[in-house]
Amino acid sequence: MNIQKKITQGPGYAIVKIDNLKIFGNLKKKFIEKLNLDVSKNSFDHLRVKMTSMSKSEINNIMIKLLSFSEASEMMLNACKIKIKQLAGKEIFVQRRANTIFNLPGKNQRRQWPHYELMSGISPFTYVLWAPFHDLDDDGGIFYIDQKRSFEIIKKEHSKGLVNGPTILNMNFNEKPIKIRYGEAIIFNPFILHGNVNFVSKKARLACSIRFQSAKKPLMQKNSDFFKYKKIL
Ligand SMILES: [Fe+2]
Repeated sequence: MNIQKKITQGPGYAIVKIDNLKIFGNLKKKFIEKLNLDVSKNSFDHLRVKMTSMSKSEINNIMIKLLSFSEASEMMLNACKIKIKQLAGKEIFVQRRANTIFNLPGKNQRRQWPHYELMSGISPFTYVLWAPFHDLDDDGGIFYIDQKRSFEIIKKEHSKGLVNGPTILNMNFNEKPIKIRYGEAIIFNPFILHGNVNFVSKKARLACSIRFQSAKKPLMQKNSDFFKYKKIL
Protein backbone atom coordinates (compact mmCIF):
# COMPACT_ATOMS: atom_id res chain seq x y z
CA MET A 1 0.00 0.00 0.00
CA ASN A 2 1.47 3.38 -0.91
CA ILE A 3 1.81 6.18 1.62
CA GLN A 4 -1.08 8.21 0.24
CA LYS A 5 -3.45 5.23 0.48
CA LYS A 6 -2.22 4.37 3.96
CA ILE A 7 -2.98 7.89 5.19
CA THR A 8 -6.32 8.34 3.47
CA GLN A 9 -7.84 4.85 3.31
CA GLY A 10 -5.68 2.41 5.24
CA PRO A 11 -4.77 2.75 8.89
CA GLY A 12 -5.08 6.52 8.48
CA TYR A 13 -1.46 7.23 9.31
CA ALA A 14 1.97 6.39 7.96
CA ILE A 15 5.57 6.72 9.01
CA VAL A 16 7.42 8.54 6.25
CA LYS A 17 10.98 9.61 5.59
CA ILE A 18 11.63 13.35 5.84
CA ASP A 19 12.43 14.48 2.29
CA ASN A 20 15.19 16.93 3.17
CA LEU A 21 16.95 16.07 6.41
CA LYS A 22 19.38 18.97 6.04
CA ILE A 23 16.52 21.47 6.34
CA PHE A 24 15.02 19.54 9.25
CA GLY A 25 18.48 19.52 10.90
CA ASN A 26 18.62 23.31 10.54
CA LEU A 27 15.17 23.59 12.07
CA LYS A 28 16.39 21.59 15.06
CA LYS A 29 19.48 23.83 15.31
CA LYS A 30 17.31 26.98 15.26
CA PHE A 31 15.06 25.44 17.89
CA ILE A 32 18.06 25.00 20.21
CA GLU A 33 19.24 28.56 19.49
CA LYS A 34 15.79 29.95 20.30
CA LEU A 35 15.76 28.27 23.69
CA ASN A 36 19.00 30.06 24.51
CA LEU A 37 19.82 27.57 27.25
CA ASP A 38 23.27 26.83 28.49
CA VAL A 39 23.64 23.63 26.52
CA SER A 40 26.42 22.58 24.20
CA LYS A 41 25.15 22.59 20.63
CA ASN A 42 26.49 19.08 20.13
CA SER A 43 24.63 17.72 23.06
CA PHE A 44 20.98 17.52 22.24
CA ASP A 45 20.61 14.65 24.70
CA HIS A 46 21.95 16.91 27.42
CA LEU A 47 19.19 19.41 26.65
CA ARG A 48 16.58 16.66 26.84
CA VAL A 49 17.91 15.55 30.24
CA LYS A 50 18.12 19.13 31.51
CA MET A 51 14.49 19.76 30.61
CA THR A 52 13.29 16.94 32.85
CA SER A 53 14.39 18.80 35.99
CA MET A 54 12.89 22.15 35.01
CA SER A 55 10.06 23.70 36.96
CA LYS A 56 6.72 24.41 35.31
CA SER A 57 7.54 28.15 35.19
CA GLU A 58 10.87 27.47 33.45
CA ILE A 59 9.00 25.36 30.91
CA ASN A 60 6.51 28.19 30.47
CA ASN A 61 9.39 30.57 29.77
CA ILE A 62 10.63 28.25 27.05
CA MET A 63 7.17 28.20 25.51
CA ILE A 64 7.17 32.01 25.51
CA LYS A 65 10.57 32.07 23.77
CA LEU A 66 9.19 29.73 21.12
CA LEU A 67 6.35 32.10 20.28
CA SER A 68 8.78 33.97 18.06
CA PHE A 69 9.91 30.81 16.25
CA SER A 70 7.98 31.84 13.16
CA GLU A 71 10.34 30.29 10.60
CA ALA A 72 9.57 26.77 11.85
CA SER A 73 6.45 26.39 9.67
CA GLU A 74 8.28 27.22 6.44
CA MET A 75 11.18 24.95 7.38
CA MET A 76 8.88 22.01 8.17
CA LEU A 77 7.11 22.53 4.87
CA ASN A 78 10.40 22.62 2.96
CA ALA A 79 11.75 19.58 4.79
CA CYS A 80 8.71 17.49 3.79
CA LYS A 81 7.74 19.17 0.53
CA ILE A 82 7.43 16.05 -1.63
CA LYS A 83 5.17 14.19 0.81
CA ILE A 84 2.99 17.26 1.39
CA LYS A 85 2.62 17.82 -2.36
CA GLN A 86 1.67 14.17 -2.91
CA LEU A 87 -1.15 14.47 -0.38
CA ALA A 88 -2.45 17.99 -0.88
CA GLY A 89 -1.25 19.11 -4.31
CA LYS A 90 0.78 22.15 -5.33
CA GLU A 91 -1.47 24.78 -3.82
CA ILE A 92 -1.90 24.34 -0.13
CA PHE A 93 -2.96 25.96 3.09
CA VAL A 94 -0.29 25.43 5.70
CA GLN A 95 -0.38 26.24 9.40
CA ARG A 96 1.21 29.66 9.97
CA ARG A 97 2.94 28.58 13.14
CA ALA A 98 4.43 25.13 13.55
CA ASN A 99 3.86 23.58 16.96
CA THR A 100 7.02 22.80 18.87
CA ILE A 101 6.09 20.22 21.43
CA PHE A 102 7.90 18.89 24.45
CA ASN A 103 6.70 16.21 26.79
CA LEU A 104 8.34 15.48 30.09
CA PRO A 105 8.60 12.04 31.66
CA GLY A 106 6.99 11.12 34.97
CA LYS A 107 3.57 11.45 36.50
CA ASN A 108 1.64 14.74 36.71
CA GLN A 109 3.13 16.02 33.50
CA ARG A 110 1.20 17.63 30.70
CA ARG A 111 0.01 14.96 28.32
CA GLN A 112 -2.33 14.75 25.40
CA TRP A 113 -5.45 12.81 26.23
CA PRO A 114 -6.88 10.74 23.36
CA HIS A 115 -8.32 13.06 20.75
CA TYR A 116 -8.72 13.53 17.03
CA GLU A 117 -7.66 16.73 15.30
CA LEU A 118 -11.04 17.36 13.72
CA MET A 119 -12.39 18.33 17.14
CA SER A 120 -10.24 21.46 17.19
CA GLY A 121 -11.98 22.95 14.18
CA ILE A 122 -9.69 21.95 11.36
CA SER A 123 -11.39 20.65 8.22
CA PRO A 124 -11.78 16.95 7.32
CA PHE A 125 -9.23 17.58 4.54
CA THR A 126 -6.38 18.59 6.84
CA TYR A 127 -3.41 16.35 7.59
CA VAL A 128 -0.97 16.52 10.47
CA LEU A 129 2.73 16.01 10.03
CA TRP A 130 4.59 15.26 13.26
CA ALA A 131 8.34 14.76 13.51
CA PRO A 132 10.51 14.16 16.59
CA PHE A 133 13.90 15.87 16.97
CA HIS A 134 15.49 12.59 18.07
CA ASP A 135 14.98 8.81 17.99
CA LEU A 136 12.00 7.70 20.03
CA ASP A 137 13.42 4.80 21.95
CA ASP A 138 11.24 4.99 25.07
CA ASP A 139 7.47 5.28 25.55
CA GLY A 140 7.51 9.05 25.08
CA GLY A 141 5.91 8.75 21.64
CA ILE A 142 2.30 8.96 20.54
CA PHE A 143 -0.13 6.07 20.14
CA TYR A 144 -2.43 5.98 17.13
CA ILE A 145 -5.74 4.12 16.75
CA ASP A 146 -6.32 2.88 13.22
CA GLN A 147 -8.97 4.53 11.09
CA LYS A 148 -11.54 1.71 11.26
CA ARG A 149 -11.54 1.66 15.07
CA SER A 150 -11.30 5.45 15.35
CA PHE A 151 -14.42 5.81 13.20
CA GLU A 152 -16.32 3.24 15.26
CA ILE A 153 -15.52 5.09 18.49
CA ILE A 154 -16.23 8.55 17.04
CA LYS A 155 -19.56 7.45 15.53
CA LYS A 156 -20.62 5.85 18.81
CA GLU A 157 -19.90 9.10 20.57
CA HIS A 158 -21.56 11.26 17.93
CA SER A 159 -24.75 9.21 18.28
CA LYS A 160 -24.94 10.61 21.84
CA GLY A 161 -24.34 14.14 20.56
CA LEU A 162 -20.81 14.31 21.95
CA VAL A 163 -17.44 15.28 20.53
CA ASN A 164 -14.38 14.00 22.32
CA GLY A 165 -16.39 13.52 25.50
CA PRO A 166 -16.25 11.01 28.36
CA THR A 167 -16.53 7.96 26.05
CA ILE A 168 -13.13 8.75 24.61
CA LEU A 169 -11.60 10.36 27.67
CA ASN A 170 -12.36 7.39 29.92
CA MET A 171 -11.54 4.71 27.39
CA ASN A 172 -8.58 2.48 28.13
CA PHE A 173 -6.32 2.48 25.14
CA ASN A 174 -3.63 -0.12 25.49
CA GLU A 175 -1.81 0.80 22.33
CA LYS A 176 1.93 1.17 22.64
CA PRO A 177 3.39 4.49 21.51
CA ILE A 178 4.98 4.24 18.08
CA LYS A 179 8.75 4.13 17.97
CA ILE A 180 10.24 6.13 15.15
CA ARG A 181 13.74 7.35 14.31
CA TYR A 182 15.14 10.81 13.84
CA GLY A 183 14.65 11.59 10.14
CA GLU A 184 11.19 10.06 10.08
CA ALA A 185 7.79 11.70 10.56
CA ILE A 186 4.21 10.54 11.02
CA ILE A 187 1.48 11.91 8.81
CA PHE A 188 -2.10 11.23 9.86
CA ASN A 189 -5.59 12.26 8.90
CA PRO A 190 -7.86 14.28 11.23
CA PHE A 191 -10.11 11.34 12.15
CA ILE A 192 -7.37 9.30 13.77
CA LEU A 193 -7.54 9.07 17.54
CA HIS A 194 -4.17 9.60 19.15
CA GLY A 195 -2.58 10.65 22.40
CA ASN A 196 0.35 10.04 24.66
CA VAL A 197 0.79 8.38 28.01
CA ASN A 198 2.84 9.11 31.12
CA PHE A 199 6.24 7.66 30.41
CA VAL A 200 9.42 6.76 32.23
CA SER A 201 12.62 8.16 30.80
CA LYS A 202 15.67 10.24 31.70
CA LYS A 203 14.93 12.52 28.76
CA ALA A 204 12.17 14.82 27.56
CA ARG A 205 10.56 14.23 24.18
CA LEU A 206 10.85 17.10 21.69
CA ALA A 207 9.02 17.31 18.40
CA CYS A 208 7.59 19.66 15.81
CA SER A 209 4.33 19.49 13.85
CA ILE A 210 2.37 21.32 11.16
CA ARG A 211 -1.07 20.98 9.65
CA PHE A 212 -1.77 21.35 5.95
CA GLN A 213 -4.45 20.75 3.33
CA SER A 214 -5.19 21.40 -0.32
CA ALA A 215 -6.09 25.03 -1.03
CA LYS A 216 -8.86 23.65 -3.26
CA LYS A 217 -10.71 22.23 -0.26
CA PRO A 218 -12.75 24.29 2.19
CA LEU A 219 -11.14 25.44 5.42
CA MET A 220 -14.38 25.21 7.42
CA GLN A 221 -13.88 26.79 10.87
CA LYS A 222 -10.19 27.66 10.63
CA ASN A 223 -9.35 30.75 8.64
CA SER A 224 -6.36 32.71 7.52
CA ASP A 225 -5.34 33.44 11.11
CA PHE A 226 -4.42 29.79 11.33
CA PHE A 227 -3.47 28.87 7.77
CA LYS A 228 -1.56 30.65 5.06
CA TYR A 229 -1.74 29.98 1.33
CA LYS A 230 1.38 28.55 -0.23
CA LYS A 231 2.29 27.35 -3.70
CA ILE A 232 4.80 24.52 -3.63
CA LEU A 233 7.32 24.95 -6.42
FE1 LIG B 1 -3.16 15.90 18.24
